[in-house]
Amino acid sequence: MSVRNVQHAADVDTHTETHLNPPSATLTHAYDNSTAHGIPMIAVSPSHGKFLSLLTRMSGARTVLELGTLGGYSSIWFAQALKRNGGGGGKVTSIEVDPAHREVAIANLRYAGVDVPREAEVLLGAGLDVLPRLGAEIEAGERARFDFVFVDADWENQWSYFDWGVRLCKGRGGVVYVDNVVRQLLLSGVVGPEEREEGVVDLVEKVGGDERVDAVVIQTVGAKDYDGFLMAVVK
Ligand code: SAH
Ligand code: DHB
Ligand code: MG
Repeated sequence: MSVRNVQHAADVDTHTETHLNPPSATLTHAYDNSTAHGIPMIAVSPSHGKFLSLLTRMSGARTVLELGTLGGYSSIWFAQALKRNGGGGGKVTSIEVDPAHREVAIANLRYAGVDVPREAEVLLGAGLDVLPRLGAEIEAGERARFDFVFVDADWENQWSYFDWGVRLCKGRGGVVYVDNVVRQLLLSGVVGPEEREEGVVDLVEKVGGDERVDAVVIQTVGAKDYDGFLMAVVK
């Protein structure tokens, strides 16, 4: 065995998904309907979606905050996990800057049996505009804090979204999970052959110096190639 076997990563996804994560009609619809509306299919992979749903169930989350809705594929995974957690009142709050993406996401969520906006709301706007509003609503007692935060929007703002995630989450045991961290490290030249971009904020360095959290980066391979995520738990 050596690392060159990474060429088989997509086949391993196919095999393991056949047995552990057979495609559901609703999730397949979310992918297909997004593509039909010209939305680039940069959603998490089926295995990654299932992993997020298992984390949501492990953590017993009732409220999820998502940055970057796209066609609602990951939102559906979260909403279904919250339903399984039971107790009623579970809710996904997803933020999306592109109105066309938001429309398709709402249609896909509804097709999947998710009650919009009761079980999942898609807030239109740039993350950095919407997050302070959510913060004010939490402070005013009009909105619950978040148990699980999924950051999957524009990569340049990963640190700002992370910081907001920690501030808006429930405190100890709250989770902030950032997608695409490894590709951003390589793209921005923090690691690898590219020249490091001037003024680039390295999420990993910032989180490493952040006393509020314990965090790790896990590198991943699969049908969606090579990447990795950061996951932090509030102390
Ligand atoms: N979470 C989705 C994929 C998100 S792709 C899934 O796995 O199914 C990234 C999304 O972030 C895109 O829809 C893009 O329009 C949105 N986005 C980009 N910049 C943004 C910003 N500043 N604020 C909110 N959303 C943003
Ligand atoms: C891509 C993947 C992502 O998960 C994302 O958030 C943005 C872009 C991509 O494959 O290009
Ligand atoms: Mg992503």
